[in-house]
Amino acid sequence: MELYIIGSGKMATSIIEGVRKDFAVTVVARNEEVLKKMEKKYKIKTIKLNSFNIHGKNVLLAVKPYALKNVSSNLMGKANMLLSVLAGTSIQTLKSYIKASHYVRVMPNLAATYKKSMTTVTGDEAYKDIALQICKSFGDILWVDSEKELNIATAVAGSGPAFLALVAEALSDGAVKEGLKREDANTLVKGLFEGFVPLLKENHPALLKDAVMSPGGTTAAGYSALEEKGVRDGFIKAITKAYERTLK
Ligand SMILES: NC(=O)c1ccc[n+]([C@@H]2O[C@H](COP(=O)([O-])OP(=O)(O)OC[C@H]3O[C@@H](n4cnc5c(N)ncnc54)[C@H](OP(=O)(O)O)[C@@H]3O)[C@@H](O)[C@H]2O)c1
Repeated sequence: MELYIIGSGKMATSIIEGVRKDFAVTVVARNEEVLKKMEKKYKIKTIKLNSFNIHGKNVLLAVKPYALKNVSSNLMGKANMLLSVLAGTSIQTLKSYIKASHYVRVMPNLAATYKKSMTTVTGDEAYKDIALQICKSFGDILWVDSEKELNIATAVAGSGPAFLALVAEALSDGAVKEGLKREDANTLVKGLFEGFVPLLKENHPALLKDAVMSPGGTTAAGYSALEEKGVRDGFIKAITKAYERTLK
């Protein structure tokens, strides 16, 4: 199947790595220099964005939400499927700018670069299977029944890498504060995250915590400091704020 990706930024580039194996990918974007590099690196076709005819094509839109109006003025015809990664941009809004027979919204994250994105998908049920097949090529997938759920998922899995980056950086900072070399602190944190993935896959987070925390021990001391500082509440509020932002 042919897939036309509109945009050549971070998300488009992350996605290409996975989709190019199973789909005939063409990237359509405005920066010719970037397109030339992409052609060479990924062995894909590219086209400069300028009155591009999307008629009957399957299109994956990966530009910034604020660029939608400008980009749509450079697109002609009616696409078959429009797959949009634009955060906080509803299908209703997409419809008002770009014509397509089927609309699907997907919310990947930057881990798509390593085919490890956690991608949420919603929209036209008729194109559920094909949309999931595309998204599966760059990681795990979750189909949800509404755009509200996709917006909540955006806060968790789309913005999530930034939230977890804060955790990683803070843990490393704490270690350095107590005297560990920065390089060693970063090595520890990377190893911690890697080992945490299989643990989380097999265990409920509350049980994981209980398994590590012994009575009156080191983990309990650290954990109570986190609670004292309202870290749990801070994360809950972060999801609420990020979700609310998708509605604006
Ligand atoms: N980054 C993430 O972690 C993430 C996660 C989930 C969803 N998303 C969504 O992915 C989309 C792209 O984000 P990104 O991180 O890839 O951003 P990015 O790296 O800044 O790339 C944005 C792309 O949009 C193009 N663009 C911007 N304004 C344009 C205009 N007026 N006309 C034509 N093209 C224009 C840029 O072209 P130039 O290079 O020529 O400027 C670039 O190709 C966003 O809608 C975002 O909500 C991102």
